[in-house]
Amino acid sequence: MDKILLTGGAGFIGSHIAVALAGKGFTPILIDNFSHSQRHIPGRIEKLAGKKITFYELDCRDHRGLLDIAKKEGPIDGVIHLAAFKAVGESVANPMKYYDNNLGCMNALMRVILEMGIPHFVFSSSCTVYGMPDEGAAVDESSPFGDPYSPYGYTKQACERIMKDVAGLSNGLKQISLRYFNPIGAHPSGKIGELPLGKPNNLVPYMCQAAAGLRSELVVFGRDYPTSDGTCERDYIHVCDLAEAHIRAMEHLLDTDKRLDAFNVGAGKAHSVQEIIHTFSEVNQVELPLVYGDRRPGDVAAIYARVDKAQRVLGWKTRYSVRDALQHAWQWQLRLQEE
Ligand code: WQD
Repeated sequence: MDKILLTGGAGFIGSHIAVALAGKGFTPILIDNFSHSQRHIPGRIEKLAGKKITFYELDCRDHRGLLDIAKKEGPIDGVIHLAAFKAVGESVANPMKYYDNNLGCMNALMRVILEMGIPHFVFSSSCTVYGMPDEGAAVDESSPFGDPYSPYGYTKQACERIMKDVAGLSNGLKQISLRYFNPIGAHPSGKIGELPLGKPNNLVPYMCQAAAGLRSELVVFGRDYPTSDGTCERDYIHVCDLAEAHIRAMEHLLDTDKRLDAFNVGAGKAHSVQEIIHTFSEVNQVELPLVYGDRRPGDVAAIYARVDKAQRVLGWKTRYSVRDALQHAWQWQLRLQEE
């Protein structure tokens, strides 16, 4: 298993996967349009990987462009597909931006995978496919898809349906969906991390900017949820642990005969917004300007992962704690300000 096309490869999660792939002897070929990244990131990835990494600037809705890359770089052993927009709240405010991009990229890419007979596909899916869990907040892979509560979540459901529909075709394609929970943190080296363009949508990057004085305050979206302290509960996972799950998934696709599978990728623990804020302040010794605001449309009250399937089948489990992730996120924020 050698050449892996990595879409969204210059992004927050993609850059960490690129480094992990190179570290395991794969040859990642990155594709990114820099809509949510910056041009100096591929160079940082090469420094961390200690070798040259092939990179293409391309919008993944461009079927012809993707086909040309697959032909030029072929034979391609696998694809890891991350190129998508991923902000729940933003997708509620701007659904067509999400349907156009997230479904457009999947459509163009899956056509190329089938046309070129690429045998292995790992898809960046999301816990949002479960919607609001019926019983409690813990979900496992057999939990039903619910109302996804946001256009973002619905695009992930639709993409998993595309995978299901092509899995039945007579081809050698084997596929895995990795259902991410809440990726946070940054590479321990401080060389790559989250680079939100403009105002961050997600809690941790916004919190880092508020603590750094770049934002006047952090607004907690809702304190009246039916949870431990009234704030939403999520399953926060270190981005390096998430990256490692992709390596294990690709390696597993080599051995398995199963055409289609899905794994939750989370820490298996729930933390409230309040707990995250408290831990961040404590572990980094920083104060946070905090206000409590209204609920954010699209949010579910609580969700976290049952992760024993990934442990059992992929031999994967998290190595970093939420504390580690919040410390690495803050160190990365400080590095950004030095640049
Ligand atoms: C977390 C909590 C907010 C910002 C993320 C990814 C998504 C998917 C699931 C992979 C919520 C609250 C946030 C702020 C706040 N992962 N919050 N103030 O919405 O769970 O989605 O994980 O596919 O792609 O984006 O993450 O960080 O936006 O919100 O109170 O300024 O923090 O209401 O309860 P979310 P988030």
